[in-house]
Amino acid sequence: MNNVLHAMLAESPEAIFAQLPPKRVGETDRRYLDEVLNAGFRNTIDPAGIFARTEAAFAAKFGVRYAVLHNSGTGTMQSCLLAAGVGPGDEVIVPPLTAVATAVVVVQCGAVPVFADIDPDTFNLDPADVARRITPFTKAIIPVSLYGLAPDYDGLMALAAEHDLTVIEDNAECFLGEYKGRMVGAIGHAASFSFQASKHMTSAGDGGVVITDDQEYAQNIRKRSCLGYATLGAKPGDVFVPRDVRQDIDFERHDLMGYNFRMSAVQAALALGQLERLDALVAARIHIARMYQQVLDEEQCDWLIPPVVPDGALHTYWTWVCKLDEERAGVDWRMFRKAFIANGGDGLYSAWRPVHLEPVFRNLAFYGRPDQAPNFDPRYKGTVKSYQEGDCPVCEELQPRLCQFKTSMQSIDAVETQVNALRATIREIAR
Ligand SMILES: Cc1ncc(COP(=O)(O)O)c(C=O)c1O
Repeated sequence: MNNVLHAMLAESPEAIFAQLPPKRVGETDRRYLDEVLNAGFRNTIDPAGIFARTEAAFAAKFGVRYAVLHNSGTGTMQSCLLAAGVGPGDEVIVPPLTAVATAVVVVQCGAVPVFADIDPDTFNLDPADVARRITPFTKAIIPVSLYGLAPDYDGLMALAAEHDLTVIEDNAECFLGEYKGRMVGAIGHAASFSFQASKHMTSAGDGGVVITDDQEYAQNIRKRSCLGYATLGAKPGDVFVPRDVRQDIDFERHDLMGYNFRMSAVQAALALGQLERLDALVAARIHIARMYQQVLDEEQCDWLIPPVVPDGALHTYWTWVCKLDEERAGVDWRMFRKAFIANGGDGLYSAWRPVHLEPVFRNLAFYGRPDQAPNFDPRYKGTVKSYQEGDCPVCEELQPRLCQFKTSMQSIDAVETQVNALRATIREIAR
C-alpha cells in the first residue's frame, strides 16, 4: 500500500491541486532538464546519468528491483513479449476493450492475439473467459488495468501459474492503483506503463517504462529495447556500452534480436520530475472522479453506471467512465454527448471500438494479404483464423454505451465546470 497517496487522499482538494504546476511542467522537471542540457550532448546517450536515477526512482516507487525506460508504452510490451520468448506459432490473450497497442504488439512479435471477453461489472478481463481461451499454444496474457482499475489478478495469476504463462500488466492507464491492497505493477511478471500525453504523468508527450523484480527478465527486456546489445544489464541506467568494450575489434555486439525503443535523456529528466509528484497527479484524478460520483449520488441518477470497484481496489481514474443505460435515460449516446457539451461539458469520449472489430483485425490487414497474418503462419497450429462480431459479446454490447469523462483538469475551477455540466445534463434529461 502506498501511504503517501492514501495520506494525500485525505487532504483537501485545494491542497492536492496546489501541487499541480501550470501546464503540467514543474520546477523539478525544469531542474532535471537543465542538468541534461548543461551536461550537453556529447557522443553519448546519457551524459548526465539521468537514466540510472529515473529508473532507480521508478523501481523504488513500485517496490520492485528493476525499471527499464522505453520510448512508449507500446514498445514496453513488445520488449516484454520478445523477452518472454513469444514468437510465431504462439497465442497471447488480451482484452478487446483497450487501446490497439495491447494487441498490436502481439502481431508485431509474429504471434496471434486471442481476445477474451470482459466482466460486465468491472469492464475488465474476465478470468473465466480467459480460462476458456487458453490452448496449448498460449504463451502469455496481457491484462489491462482499464481506465485505472486493476482486473481480477488472483484469477489471472492462478491461471498463469497453472498453464505456465507470462503475465505482462498493461498499466498505461493505471499509476499507483491497488489490487487487494497490493500495488498494481508488482503483481505480474512484468508491468508496462505509458507516459503518453493523456496519461497520469508524461515525459514530453511520449515515453514508457517496464518494471519487474526478475533480474534475468529485466536484462532481456533491456536488450530487446536496445537492439539486442549483448553487454547491457538489468540494473538502473545500464544502457551504455563502455568505450573500451565497444571500440575493440573483437567486440561482438548483438546476441539477440531487439528494436530501438530507447528513451532520450531529455524525456528521462522530465519523467523523473513528474514521478516525484505522481502521488499528487493521481490523487487529483481520484478526487475528480469522486466529484463526478457525488453528482450521480445527489441526483439519484441510476442510468449512468460506473464500473464496480471491488473491495481492496484503488481505482486511479485515467478517465471517469460510466455505462449509459439508454432505455432508462430515454436518450442515446450521441444525444447525451450533445446535451453534455451544450451544458458546458468539455466533450465526451466514446470507448475505443472493440479491438477485434477494428478493420485491421477484422480484415487481417497486418502485412498486405490476410494469409500473411500470424494466424496463417505454417508454424501456427491453433484455430484463431479470423476476428469477427460475436467473439466477445459482453464487450461488444458495452462499448457503444460507455461515456468517458475527463479527469485531466489541473484546477478546481476547471473540474467544477465539468461537474456542473454533468449535473445540468442529468437534470435536463430527467425532466
Ligand atoms: C491501455 C493502453 N495500453 C497501451 C497504450 C499505449 O501506450 P503508448 O501510447 O505510450 O504507446 C495506451 C495508450 O496510449 C493505453 O491506453
